Amino acid sequence: GHLLPGLARARGIDLGVAVAVDPLAHDRRYRGIVEDHYTSVTAENTMKWEHVQPERGEFDWSGPDAVVDFAAENGLNVRGHTMLWHNQQPDWLAGGDWDAESLSAVVHEHVTTVMERYRGRVSAWDVINEPLEDGGPDMRRNLWYEVLGPDYIAQTLYSAHAADPDAELYINEFGIETAGPKADALYALVSDLVERGVPLHGIGFQSHFVHGNVSEDLADQMRRYTDLGLEVAVTELDVRIPEPVTDEDLREQRGEYRDVLAACLEVEGCVNVTVWGVTDAHSWIPEWFPGTDAALPFDTAYRPKPALSGMVDALSRR
Ligand code: G3I
Repeated sequence: GHLLPGLARARGIDLGVAVAVDPLAHDRRYRGIVEDHYTSVTAENTMKWEHVQPERGEFDWSGPDAVVDFAAENGLNVRGHTMLWHNQQPDWLAGGDWDAESLSAVVHEHVTTVMERYRGRVSAWDVINEPLEDGGPDMRRNLWYEVLGPDYIAQTLYSAHAADPDAELYINEFGIETAGPKADALYALVSDLVERGVPLHGIGFQSHFVHGNVSEDLADQMRRYTDLGLEVAVTELDVRIPEPVTDEDLREQRGEYRDVLAACLEVEGCVNVTVWGVTDAHSWIPEWFPGTDAALPFDTAYRPKPALSGMVDALSRR
C-alpha cells in the first residue's frame, strides 16, 4: 500500500515533492506518484519570477494556479518557490536600469501581488533564495544586493509578511547542510534578522547531495535555527550518484534517504522534507551534473527505488 502520507502525518511532518506543470497536466502516472506518496508540493519552476511576471506588469497565473489547484483537490500543502532569486529572472528585470527606489517598488509589487493571490493556499514561501555566494561565505552580489544593499532581505520579508501574515517566510539556501564557513555565514545573517525582529519563520536546507557525501551534521545545523525559534525544512532533497549506477549504490542511497528523513524527525521544528522531482526522468540532475544520475526515489520507468523504502523506514522507527 501507500504508506508514506499516513506515516508522515502521524509524525507531524510533510513529505513533499517538486512538480512540473506539464507532466502534472498530461501524465497520469506522474500525477499518481504525487497523489499516492506525498503530502505537499513545491513548483519546480512555474512560481519563479520569469514565469509569473514575464513582462513588467503582466502576470501569468496559469502554471501557479495549476499547481495550487492540484494541491487543493488532493489535500496537499504547497510550499511557494520562490520570490527573490538570481536565476530565472525575466529580461526586463535582470537587464533593467534600476535605482533603489524603482527596484524596491517593483519587488514590493511582485511579492505583494503573488502572495495576496495565494493567501491561505500557500502555507510557506521561499521568499529569499540563495542569498550567499555559491561557495560562501559572502553575500551574493545579486541584483538586489547591488542596488538595495544587504537590507534587501529584511525589506522583502516585511513586504511578504504584510501580504500574507499567516504564511511561513523562509530563507532557502544550499551548502549549509554541513558545518563550515557558508553554514556559519547564513547563521550569522539569520541571527541578526531574528534579533531585529524581522518577520522570518523558517530556514530551508536545499540538500542537493552527492552519494557518499550526505551531510552527517544536518540535525545539528538545523537545531541551531530551531534554537532561535525558527522552523526548518529540507526543501530540495536529491542524492546524485556518479555513473555507472550500481545496485549497491542504490542500496546505499536507501540509507542516505533514511538518514536525511531521520535527521528531520530528530529535530523538533523540522516540518517538511521535500524531494526535488518526481522521478529520475524528470530530475534536473542529468542536465546540470552530467555523469551523475539516479538522484530521486523513483526511477526513469516510474518504479519505486530502495530510497523510497528508506523513507518509509525512517518514518516507521521510533
Ligand atoms: O521551459 C523551457 C523550454 O521552453 C525550453 O525549450 C528549454 C530549453 O532549454 O528550457 C526549458 O526551461 C528549463 C527549465 O528548467 C524548465 O524545465 C531551463 O532550460 C532549465 O535551465 C531550468 O532548470 C531549472 C533550474 O532550477 C534553473 O536554474 C530546474 O528545472 C530546476 O530544478 C532548478 O531548481 C533549482 C531551485 O529552483 C533552487 N535551488 C537549486 C535548484 C537546482 O538548480
